Amino acid sequence: MSTTQTQRKFEGWAAMDENSVKGQMKWTEYEPKEFADDDVELEVQYCGICGSDLHTMSNGWGSAKDMYPQVVGHEIVGKVVRVGKDVKHLKEGDVAGVGAQCDSCLECDSCKKGEENYCSKGIVGTYCAKFSRTSSGSKSYGGYANFWRGPAHFTLPIPSNIDPAEAAPMMCGGVTVFAPLKQYGAGTTAKDVGVVGIGGLGHFAVLFATAMGANVTAISHSHKKDEDAKKLGAKKVIVTGDDVKAAFKGHERSLDLIIVSSNAPNMPFDAYLSLLRPHGHLVIVGVAEEGSLPNVHPFNLIMSNVHISGSLIGSVKDIAECLKFAGDHNIKAWVKRYPMKDANEAVVSMKAGDARYRYVLVNEEHGGKMNA
Ligand SMILES: NC(=O)c1ccc[n+]([C@@H]2O[C@H](COP(=O)([O-])OP(=O)(O)OC[C@H]3O[C@@H](n4cnc5c(N)ncnc54)[C@H](OP(=O)(O)O)[C@@H]3O)[C@@H](O)[C@H]2O)c1
Ligand SMILES: [Zn+2]
Ligand SMILES: [Zn+2]
Repeated sequence: MSTTQTQRKFEGWAAMDENSVKGQMKWTEYEPKEFADDDVELEVQYCGICGSDLHTMSNGWGSAKDMYPQVVGHEIVGKVVRVGKDVKHLKEGDVAGVGAQCDSCLECDSCKKGEENYCSKGIVGTYCAKFSRTSSGSKSYGGYANFWRGPAHFTLPIPSNIDPAEAAPMMCGGVTVFAPLKQYGAGTTAKDVGVVGIGGLGHFAVLFATAMGANVTAISHSHKKDEDAKKLGAKKVIVTGDDVKAAFKGHERSLDLIIVSSNAPNMPFDAYLSLLRPHGHLVIVGVAEEGSLPNVHPFNLIMSNVHISGSLIGSVKDIAECLKFAGDHNIKAWVKRYPMKDANEAVVSMKAGDARYRYVLVNEEHGGKMNA
């Protein structure tokens, strides 16, 4: 280990309390986990702003209140600057990324099957969590920061045919919709795919499902995104507005798969189910702050043999596949870049619903680029 490595100072935008989401994060020094033999360290070049960052900063899900200060951000891409002696798949100088999960037990049935995201001991989130396999009890800190340190198992090389600024939001937002689209056969068994909520995740769902060969229907709560949804590839746009039943009239039983990426409170799941053909799947990935799953009348499931399920991010293999798919299909994420120093401004704008469709923070001093 060289002197510069030992002296590397970790600093990032810390959320000190619930108000941080109002643009009150503070640039702060912090202590990362102890460096383990299977860890890597990245100079953060890019970090996407995911909806989950905001829910966590504000403690909107009620799970983060004992975890301040937090440095959020789990769509991280950067240059590998330190590699533990047990790491085989990365070397110094590589461009690599990590998503929303940075560790798991690596021993349970799910982990052994390559489904680390469903680890039976629970996942270690890239921020606001505690490590246990190595550096037990240390807090995880995310990517609104200058450096990131963590297990190499969850850190993947970024293919050279994707702009790393666009790859960053694929590490969480992209793979979270890619995985269920793949699982439920978008473009093959599921020819007609609906996407509820055209935000960061939703825009990836439209792009990926279209590239998989599906006919996509975008389902948005306002008319603001009509044109964009079509440009992203949607064949149809349904605007739910205030009267979802009226909006869905004539579209009953027109879809095979629906990905719900909205985080609106109290979503009308019964109405969404009416859009499914028999045997169709409604997969929930968005997590609202208010309102758990509302009552769904049993007949709405029984009468058409439809399924409701959820999906959590993706496994390491899913992320690799998602990146490869994006590169092979020339998927262009719609990102707006903010200098890292303007993170508070970007968070406030994201919270206001202005992102079209993903904000990415850029560290120019580490080689991040403000232009494509
Ligand atoms: N399952 C997982 O593993 C996973 C992974 C990542 C993120 N998430 C969750 O997925 C959700 C979306 O994340 P994101 O990054 O895509 O967020 P986002 O960019 O803010 O998108 C959320 C979308 O929800 C809709 N929406 C938001 N507020 C609404 C309201 N009050 N009424 C109606 N619609 C509203 C909007 O779409 P329209 O304008 O088109 O209606 C908005 O663009 C978040 O809850 C996040 O925590 C889950
Ligand atoms: Zn995320
Ligand atoms: Zn496990």
